[in-house]
This record gives sequence, C-alpha cells and structure tokens, in this order.
Amino acid sequence: MIRTATDDDIVSIIYIWKETIETNNTPGDILRVFKRNRRYWFVCDGMEGGEIIGFAAGSVKSRSRGHISGIAVLEEHREKGIGKSLFDVLIAAFRQQNFKKITLEVRASNKTAIRLYEGYGFKKTDIINKYYPDGEDAINYEKIL
Ligand SMILES: CC(C)(COP(=O)(O)OP(=O)(O)OC[C@H]1O[C@@H](n2cnc3c(N)ncnc32)[C@H](O)[C@@H]1OP(=O)(O)O)[C@@H](O)C(=O)NCCC(=O)NCCS
Repeated sequence: MIRTATDDDIVSIIYIWKETIETNNTPGDILRVFKRNRRYWFVCDGMEGGEIIGFAAGSVKSRSRGHISGIAVLEEHREKGIGKSLFDVLIAAFRQQNFKKITLEVRASNKTAIRLYEGYGFKKTDIINKYYPDGEDAINYEKIL
C-alpha cells in the first residue's frame, strides 16, 4: 500500500498538499523539492487503485539531517493508521541512509500533527514567532536517530 512516489503521482501529491496543508508553497515549489528528494517521497495507494490517498515528503538538509517537508492523508481516510504507516516508511528510509537527526516544523495550532510527531519521540527545539505568512508561529521539532 505504501510505495515510493513516481512522476505519475506528483499531480495528486500537489492536489493533496494544497487541499490539506495550509501553505504558501506553489505547485512549482513542491515539484522542485520532489525532484531533488524523490527517494524520500512516499505515497499510499487507495484500495481500488486509482488516485493516491496520502503522501509523506522527506528532504535532505545535510549529510546527517533529514527533514519532513510534508505529510498528509485525505480527510475521508484519516484515523486509520495511514499517517503512521507513511511516517514509519519515511523514518526507516532516513535511518537506512545513516542520518543522525530528523527535523520538521509545524504550525503551533496543528494539534493532530503535533500528537503524531510527539508519539514518535520528536522533541520541541524552538518556536519561531510569526514563521508562517499568515502570522502563525511554527514549532521546530527534532528526533535523534
Ligand atoms: C496528520 C495526519 C497526516 C495524520 O494522518 P492519519 O492517517 O489520520 O494518522 P493515523 O491514523 O496514522 O494516526 C497517527 C497519529 O496521529 C494523531 N492523530 C490522528 N488523528 C488525530 C485526531 N483526530 N486528534 C488527535 N490526534 C490525532 C495520533 O497521535 C495518532 O496516533 P494514535 O492513534 O496512536 O494516537 C492527518 O491528520 C492529516 O493529513 N492532516 C492534515 C495535513 C497536516 O496537517 N499535515 C501535517 C503538517 S505537514
């Protein structure tokens, strides 16, 4: 059900990203990150094939640091463990490449995502005031591998 993303998935990934993550990233931004980091992008297929229903997007920040750029599941498929399955596969991919640390930032109000990250042992490292264009703060998290 979870597999590495391909070029054929990018339109659906951009759709889910724009639908579910409050972001100013343009489709062009998302495509650029995909092209540089595709081995760390994973998708979840729907049960009857067809469109994907979720993705996890990792990126490389340095030789020792992987970063979680985005993770999302379509609303009607949430709370069934898909987010965790995507997260498991992405973290395993970072571990396999001997990254020492994984980082991410999240909107301070995104309690669901925060619970997911803290459940995986991510620790809060910083708060960046007004990080997002709409003025919301970001919380930085990291997990040491
Ligand atoms: C975050 C998200 C990916 C989780 O996907 P999901 O498939 O519903 O997640 P799972 O069913 O695997 O649940 C994983 C964990 O998320 C947390 N979680 C999921 N739904 C939750 C809810 N309604 N309330 C609180 N925590 C919740 C829990 O910690 C849960 O683990 P638990 O069941 O052991 O408590 C999904 O809610 C989503 O797409 N949100 C919108 C996009 C987004 O905000 N992404 C993060 C920023 S990039």
